[in-house]
Amino acid sequence: MAMEDDLRSIEEQVRERLEKAQSMEAVEQLRVEMLGRKGQLTAIMHTMGKVPQEQRRAMGQMANTVRANVEAGIAARRDALQAELMAAKMHAEAVDVTLPGRQLTPGTQHLINQIREEMEDIFAGLGYTIEDGPYIEDVYHNFTALNAPENHPSRAASDTFYVVDNAPEGKGDLGLSSSDMLLRTQTSGVQVHVMEKQQPPIYMICPGTVFRPDTADANHLPQFTQVEGLVVDEGITFGDLKGTLDYFTREIFGKDRATRYRPHFFPFTEPSCEVDVSCGVCGGKGCRFCKGTGWLEILGCGMVDPNVFEYCGIDSEKYTGFAFGIGVERVAALRYNLPDLRMLMTGDMRFLNQF
Ligand code: DAH
Repeated sequence: MAMEDDLRSIEEQVRERLEKAQSMEAVEQLRVEMLGRKGQLTAIMHTMGKVPQEQRRAMGQMANTVRANVEAGIAARRDALQAELMAAKMHAEAVDVTLPGRQLTPGTQHLINQIREEMEDIFAGLGYTIEDGPYIEDVYHNFTALNAPENHPSRAASDTFYVVDNAPEGKGDLGLSSSDMLLRTQTSGVQVHVMEKQQPPIYMICPGTVFRPDTADANHLPQFTQVEGLVVDEGITFGDLKGTLDYFTREIFGKDRATRYRPHFFPFTEPSCEVDVSCGVCGGKGCRFCKGTGWLEILGCGMVDPNVFEYCGIDSEKYTGFAFGIGVERVAALRYNLPDLRMLMTGDMRFLNQF
């Protein structure tokens, strides 16, 4: 009884292989081998027509039973494997919901921005507008219209980051000669922008970032913040400048810090001064922080040079004005006696959290 033996052997084989099958792929392979179009069981079913008439019914029943058993066995093994896989996956992806969460400490405003805002408040309180200007500036606004002579050292590539238009002959995508544009070295160019679009009275400040090719050290940063100021009106005098900046220094440093005005030179003001405040560490007696002088420089200022008014289309016979530029990092350093400006740049939370 060849067919009967074959059917028994198939059933036996399937049982054994299912027991050993460890993957869905192995089970599928077995199914194809037995029940597929070219499968062993399928082949036997196809020969059923050749079975003698009197045995055909019994053989047919047996073949159907074997096929049903094989199908059921395969389905059961599949279910079992599926369950195992799921259990393993759940185990691998298990999350311990009892673990404590990660603590997110809320940030605070950086000291530089705190001081910038405080300065904005002081001048807004005096009726000044708060202006903005471009970080990438042209030579005209950064130097020429501010009365800087062609050979002024600050124009040199060693003192200014020029924006190089990357093309031969310097006429590239931007259509500029490579030395037309620069990262502004001072916010003073915003004076020019404002006067170009507005006639006096002008009472404005402009806080903003400036850039210089300096190596960072205790007193220098290659990128820092200035607050520019400009007042243009009829009858503005040096007394207005002094009264305004004295008021500002008292507001920002407190009433116990003195100021002094030292003659200086800036191309865009005449006369020009640098303003110092008395040292907060030694109270003006002289110490390491103030290099023994008792004073620390915080800003430059002066009466607007008539040449600047002419560049900007403002009548220098009718109007006078004063301007100033304050270093924000410096104000922070002097107010909190910071020994090194780089502390403001490191992002060290032990330092920043104090403010
Ligand atoms: N622009 C100057 C600097 O960066 C600071 C300054 C000095 C600005 C005098 C002014 C001014 O407006 O009048 O050193």
